[in-house]
Amino acid sequence: MRDHSGYGLIENGSIVLDGSSIVWVGSSDTLPAEFSSLESTDFEGRLVTPGLIDCHTHLVYGGSRAREFEMRLNGASYEEVARAGGGIVSTVSATREACEASLLADALIRADQLIAEGVTAIEIKSGYGLDLETERKMLRVARTLEAMRPIRVRTTFLGAHATPKGMEPDAYLDEVCLPVLDDCHSAGLVDAVDGFCEGIAFSPAQIERVFERAQSLGLPVKLHAEQLSNIGGTPLAARYNALSVDHVEYANADDAKALAKSGTVAVLLPGAFYTLRETQAPPVDAFRAEGVPMAVATDWNPGSSPLGSLLLAMNMACTLFRLTPAESLAGTTKQAARALGYSDAGIIAPGMRADLAIWDVTDPAELSYRIGSNPLHKRIFGGLA
Ligand code: NIG
Ligand code: FE
Repeated sequence: MRDHSGYGLIENGSIVLDGSSIVWVGSSDTLPAEFSSLESTDFEGRLVTPGLIDCHTHLVYGGSRAREFEMRLNGASYEEVARAGGGIVSTVSATREACEASLLADALIRADQLIAEGVTAIEIKSGYGLDLETERKMLRVARTLEAMRPIRVRTTFLGAHATPKGMEPDAYLDEVCLPVLDDCHSAGLVDAVDGFCEGIAFSPAQIERVFERAQSLGLPVKLHAEQLSNIGGTPLAARYNALSVDHVEYANADDAKALAKSGTVAVLLPGAFYTLRETQAPPVDAFRAEGVPMAVATDWNPGSSPLGSLLLAMNMACTLFRLTPAESLAGTTKQAARALGYSDAGIIAPGMRADLAIWDVTDPAELSYRIGSNPLHKRIFGGLA
C-alpha cells in the first residue's frame, strides 16, 4: 500500500527544462506536442524532488569542539560549558586564528557532503568572528564557496551570536556588532541578519536594536529563538516579519499564533535537540493547528549540532518531533526556500529554477525513513547534471 498523499507526487511524470528553468511539469500522458521531440532523459521510474535546501547552517568555522562533547558526556550542560568559556566563544578563538584559505578548504568539504545528498542551496551564518576582520572573513568564504561549487548560498550576518570575552553585551552591540553589520552590508556580503536570543546570549531588547539596524539597511531578519528557554524572541521576530525563527523548542501556543500572523517559518533543528539531549520538543501540533510553515535544517555547527546530513535531519524531525515524512520533505524544499526568501526554488513548477534531485527510490517517505543511507542518483543544478 502506498500513501503518497501530501507530497503532490505525479506518477509517470515529465519535467521540461529550458536552460536553467523549469518550463513544464505534469503527467507524461499530457506532455504538450511542442515538447515531445526534445532531447530527453528517462529516469526509469525514479523519484524526482526539488533540490534540497539546508536553510540553517554555521558551516564556516575553525577548530573542533570534540572536547566539549566529552565534557557534556561527563555531566556538564551546554550552558555550563558556555559559561566556563567553552561553547561559541571557543569556536570564535579558533575561527579568528584560522586563515581564510583553511576556513574555505574545510567549508568546501562540508558543502560537498551536502551536495552529495542532493542539496542545491544552503544558508551560511557568520557569528564565530565577533570582530570586523573575522566576520568579514567568514562571509567572504561563504560567497567564495558559492563561486566554487554548483550550489546557491544565502549569507546571514550573526554578529549577535555571543559577546566576546571581556566585553559587556550592550557595549559589544554598539561598538562592534552594529558597525560590523554596516561594513559587511556595504561590502555586499549580507543577505539576512540573525541573532541568538537567549539567557546566555542577547535579550529581546538587545536583539531589537540589531533588527532595527537590519531594517534600516533593508535586510530581512531571522532569529535563534526559544531554544533553551522562552524569553520572548518569537513575538519580537514576528513583529519584524522575520523570514524564520529557528529552534523554537520552548515556543508556546501564543508564539505559534504570532508566527502564523506574520507568515514566519519555524525552522526545526533536530540535530541540536539530539546533541544537547533536549527533552522539550517544539510545539509541532500548535504550529500545524495555526498553519505555521515548518522547515527542517541541519544547524551544522561545531557545538550544538555537528550534523553533516540533511537527510538525517529529516529522519530526526520525524522520529524526534513527529513530523510526517511529507512535512519533513516540504521542510527541506518548499518551506526551506521560504525561510531563505527564495521565490524560485523549493517546488517543481514552471518558472522555478531547474534544481532537482533524482533518487533511487519510488516512495518519497523513503527519504525520511532511512537512517544514514543516501539514495541520491543524480542532482541537477540550474539545468545542468
Ligand atoms: O544554532 N544557538 C546558538 N547557535 C548555534 C550553536 C552554536 C555553537 O554551539 O557553536 C545553534 O545551536
Ligand atoms: Fe544555529
